[in-house]
Amino acid sequence: VDLNKLAQRREMHWFGTAADIPNTAETTDAAYLKVLRKNFGEVTPANAMKFMYTEPEQNVFNFTAGDEFLEIAGRHGAQIRCHNLVWASQLSDFVTSKTWTKEALTSVMKNHIYKTVQHFGKRCYSWDVVNEAINGDGSFSSSVWYNTIGEDYFYLAFKFAQDALAEIGAHDVKLYYNDYGIENQGVKSSTVLQLVKNLRSRGIRIDGVGLESHFIVGETPSLADQVATKRAYIEAGLEVAITELDIRFAQVPYYTPAVQKQQAQDYYTSVESCLNVGPRCIGVVVWDFDDAYSWVPGTFAGQGGACLFNNTLEAKPAFFAVAEALEGK
Ligand code: G3I
Repeated sequence: VDLNKLAQRREMHWFGTAADIPNTAETTDAAYLKVLRKNFGEVTPANAMKFMYTEPEQNVFNFTAGDEFLEIAGRHGAQIRCHNLVWASQLSDFVTSKTWTKEALTSVMKNHIYKTVQHFGKRCYSWDVVNEAINGDGSFSSSVWYNTIGEDYFYLAFKFAQDALAEIGAHDVKLYYNDYGIENQGVKSSTVLQLVKNLRSRGIRIDGVGLESHFIVGETPSLADQVATKRAYIEAGLEVAITELDIRFAQVPYYTPAVQKQQAQDYYTSVESCLNVGPRCIGVVVWDFDDAYSWVPGTFAGQGGACLFNNTLEAKPAFFAVAEALEGK
């Protein structure tokens, strides 16, 4: 089975994955690349387009890694969700190591957005313009951007991205807000909905919301909750995408039949929620497809087993559950 083909039969744009390419072990792992090319019609750069790599020193841009990423993904014609422009993490030292005035940091942000989106241009299906800006209680999270510029940074980022793309005639590149913890109804998802409305009332474009969907086995939001949340964004005029799906185990075992069955069920529910709301949920992206390269164990000690393939690249029950969901079984 080819997950991407199955997804496209259901009017999705693609079934995708993140990949940490180039300059990593997976870049030259033939078995990994074979699975990548067979199943995934969209590839998101896990790191290559982030601030610290694209603008290592002020106004010194380096798009080599991003271009190599696009070249590798382009070999099998994958589409790209470009990721990301404005985030608290993976910033360059020049941004975080000094105190800025609001005006000076705004012009740093503007320059970064203009140069980056204009370089990659129409090769991006979309940009995650602002990434992970909101806390669980609905307040803005601490970042050099928010702490220096205030809430305006959020609106300005989208305005700069919109204007920079318009300047090069790339009006079709979609502008997204991307976050976790907004897959279920609650304070955080309703805050994001309000921010979308604020953007629109200022005449600024936003096209979509990315629901990351980093879940824990057995604690995945219910189908009804995931569907209702997606519907609320769609009713506000947006498209939605599942952008970083993975469902990790909080502790061992990761590979017994019983726990894998629960994980498969949880994957099924998430994919089903996207299909359920119709073509305005444009696709599903997993954040790494195999346990060997997953970010999870490096961030959460003792946790893992989150992906569709195990660490020797065998398809898990979760993979077959996703295929079944896509086949409408
Ligand atoms: O670039 C250095 C390399 O020079 C060094 O040799 C190597 C040794 O550890 O580290 C490399 O940097 C790592 C980088 O990934 C590139 O591989 C960092 O240590 C590591 O922290 C970084 O992790 C990334 C993480 O974002 C950072 O927050 C993950 O790969 C990436 O998958 C993850 O992605 C995020 C999304 O952007 C936003 N949503 C959550 C998601 C998961 O955390």
